[in-house]
Amino acid sequence: MSFSKDFLWGAASAAHQIEGAFDEDGKGMGIWDTLTREPGHIAHGENGDVACDHYHHYKEDVAMMKEIGLKSYRFSISWPRVLPQGTGKVNQAGLDFYRNLIEELLAAGIEPMITLYHWNLPAALYEKGGWKNPESPLWFEEYVDLVTKAFGEKVKYWMTFNEPQLFVGAGLAGGVHAPFERNEEAVIMEITRNVLLAHGRAVRKIRENCRADVKVGFAPTGECVIPKDLSEESIEEARKASFAISPFMFPGANTWWADPIFKGEFPEEAKQLFGDRLPVFDADEWALISQPLDFYGFNIYQAGGNPFPPNEYGYDRYSYQGSPKTAMGWNITPDIMYWCCRFFYERYQKPLLITENGMACNDFVSLDEKVHDPARIDFIHRYLLSLKKAAEEGIPVLGYCYWSIMDNYEWAEGYDKRFGLIYVDYRTQERTLKDSAYWYQQVIAENGEKL
Ligand code: NOJ
Repeated sequence: MSFSKDFLWGAASAAHQIEGAFDEDGKGMGIWDTLTREPGHIAHGENGDVACDHYHHYKEDVAMMKEIGLKSYRFSISWPRVLPQGTGKVNQAGLDFYRNLIEELLAAGIEPMITLYHWNLPAALYEKGGWKNPESPLWFEEYVDLVTKAFGEKVKYWMTFNEPQLFVGAGLAGGVHAPFERNEEAVIMEITRNVLLAHGRAVRKIRENCRADVKVGFAPTGECVIPKDLSEESIEEARKASFAISPFMFPGANTWWADPIFKGEFPEEAKQLFGDRLPVFDADEWALISQPLDFYGFNIYQAGGNPFPPNEYGYDRYSYQGSPKTAMGWNITPDIMYWCCRFFYERYQKPLLITENGMACNDFVSLDEKVHDPARIDFIHRYLLSLKKAAEEGIPVLGYCYWSIMDNYEWAEGYDKRFGLIYVDYRTQERTLKDSAYWYQQVIAENGEKL
């Protein structure tokens, strides 16, 4: 079988990257609103204050999604927009914004998919220690209770965390994303404990408050490796590398988060590496963390270089002189889509949802007033063929979210990196559907049959 009849052809975004209106209608500040003001963190000193002004343009944006023919749209709720201090007093205007967005999507026949945490932690909670504070799972639970009570009847697909590998790995260990900290191992262990418990509490709330057919998952990322040939040995080597734990950037690993969540324990390699330095959970806590989920969501852009570090010329396993790359400098490695589906399905036995995949290009509006992005079309085409191969082999794939629905604020990279199907002129907020949007429209209409 190829793509199922009800395959969720979609696109994704995140609140802080598109909404703007950073201080309007009672929204509180998040760490990406406040800490990024310090010079040196973000390219050109750019911020998310206005971004794509989606807060005011959401109707136009949903109309464009409808024109593309999207079946689903993955977006995140801004925690400080609905709970300005992170807990306590609710901002009704914030809830109204998301209610209106959801209504608009449903009226357009588009399935809303909500990510609960896409990185913009309320600044008030950061002041109390953020994810280091053992109260943080309770804060998150309060927020999730609020939004699932508000939207749980209308919204079927929910994700707890987007890329814990990044907000912990890059934000709290690597120091390149907000809150720009480099914490030592023991602190990362505490943070891991809190994030896993927060996930568990959130899943419990989602199941309590949402419609009976709710589908719950999360949206991790991580390095996956393509076998160098099809021998069993090479496949096993790639499988192992995809599930490996590095002693240094362990929060960046796939299995660091997914094994506790799907298997109820840390991976063997982590047990060996860290022994009793690992976070400790009692039986009830393990049961909370590893409650069954409905799908394995993940964000996949390129094959990982590990365990083959860059050579002396700076090339990793997949790059070479003049090799194909996106504007992010990421390798174009479509086969990884098939291999990560296969490896994750083998290990976790859950239907897969591609929660992000896409390409940044140096797009601009041409003389004919269109945005021609043939490289992006080729990129999506190749990755979808690879996904199709997985589906044809019987791996259940629920859907594919192109990242991103529109050009947006690419975190520390600012606005230069354009991932969108929709081009945004940030001077005027004018939107233009790129060629890739029209191409994707055709793919959706044909359910990927003619790829
Ligand atoms: C990962 C993140 O979830 C998203 O916010 C980011 O913009 C894209 N991938 C591209 O880097």
